[in-house]
Amino acid sequence: MERNEKRYYITTYGCQMNIHESEKLAGILTSLGYKPSENELNADIIVFNTCCIRENAENTADGNIGALKKLKKNKKDLIIAVGGCMTQQVGYAEKLHQKFPFIDIIFGTHNLENFKALLETKLKQKRTLIEVLEKEGEIVEGTPKTRTSYPNAWVNITYGCNNFCTYCIVPYVRGRERSRMLNDIVNECKELVAEGYKEITLLGQNVNSYGKDLGVDFADLISEISKIEGKFRLRYMTNHPKDLNEKLIIALSKSDKACRSIHLPIQAGSNRILKLMNRKYDRESYFEKVEMLRKYMPDIAITTDIMVGFPTETEQDFLDTVDVLKKVGFAGAFTFVYSKREGTPAAKMDGQIDESVSKKRIMHLIDLQNQINRNQSKQYIGKVVEVLCEGYDEKKDMYLGRDTYGRMLYFNGEQSDIGNFVNVKVEKTGGISLVGQKV
Ligand code: SAH
Ligand code: SF4
Ligand code: F3S
Repeated sequence: MERNEKRYYITTYGCQMNIHESEKLAGILTSLGYKPSENELNADIIVFNTCCIRENAENTADGNIGALKKLKKNKKDLIIAVGGCMTQQVGYAEKLHQKFPFIDIIFGTHNLENFKALLETKLKQKRTLIEVLEKEGEIVEGTPKTRTSYPNAWVNITYGCNNFCTYCIVPYVRGRERSRMLNDIVNECKELVAEGYKEITLLGQNVNSYGKDLGVDFADLISEISKIEGKFRLRYMTNHPKDLNEKLIIALSKSDKACRSIHLPIQAGSNRILKLMNRKYDRESYFEKVEMLRKYMPDIAITTDIMVGFPTETEQDFLDTVDVLKKVGFAGAFTFVYSKREGTPAAKMDGQIDESVSKKRIMHLIDLQNQINRNQSKQYIGKVVEVLCEGYDEKKDMYLGRDTYGRMLYFNGEQSDIGNFVNVKVEKTGGISLVGQKV
């Protein structure tokens, strides 16, 4: 079949930052006349936007790239591009090129905005184009975006990270922390609200340190965005307990846009492990932050990230983590088994933990958190909550959305509800999620 339209297909791994960066890649491709393809087979360009936060993220990407060898063989004009955090690691691009010589373009996180020029150059030459910059550059504004998560819109506020938690690869593949100008962010938010987006999620590895390089802070940004007229929700992630302060908590509590939920990763409950992780807070100060949040916003839902199996973690250290889970009553916890990342300080630490021990520990945490969530869900029954309808779940044949606390609800809706706020009466719980009827 002859068609003159070129199509793209993007596979994204990793965090919200990467999801948003894929929207920029899609925007660049759209500006070049490409249309989205529903699958890889019909695409003229396939882009992998990769992640390397844990080993399994890397392995999955590797496997999926490798699987394209045959497709590329049968379709000579197909362009395969690989970028993101995995390729940004020192020496990785060359390794990837050797392993999969059929890849056409390999780029890193620091030159994503330059993808248009990369693609144009590649189209003029036969050999693989490898361009991974060693250092981050200035923030690039104005990159086109093809957004894919309506009614939510992702908005970058900082790039990079200065924290160097000893287990984490992010500072090495994303460069130093830099903040976007406050006005650029506020203007983007204004445009999004005018376009009909009902939820804005501000993105940064540590949103609480926003503006340090500009002489403003995150509380100022929250206050400014909250002044934008119109009904929309404001979310932000991720928070770092060491930088969460009272000024910000007050700004959040005063904002009629900021949701009553916060993602505040604790990582571990043992002070000894927190120190080894270089997290720069202890469990006592974490509890203080939780208390402060609840003083100003008694109903706030707190979610977290937790890691098990960090080098030297003893059973007692793990029990300290269990204890935090019980004491805080998180609305949700993402749990991870520590994964050794080459080049990070923790990779060289003695006392790496056996995987079987870590697996047992993570199962225990998951069970405990599920139990906590089930109990919280029961409290919802009979209540009416305001939900921002995000879409339709084919399997469940129900519409879905979240409340201000970030809780997922399924309900009997209609197509026109998508992108609107609807009131839902909760009738039953489906584990962590809730099921109800529109009222
Ligand atoms: N900037 C965010 C986290 C980004 S990574 C923050 O500081 O909270 C998301 C989560 O992945 C982290 O919170 C951590 O729990 C987990 N993670 C990071 N590196 C990891 C590693 N090497 N092994 C396992 N989990 C890891
Ligand atoms: Fe990684 Fe720590 Fe930075 Fe988060 S704050 S991205 S965990 S180094
Ligand atoms: Fe995100 Fe993975 Fe990179 S979690 S910042 S895509 S390493």
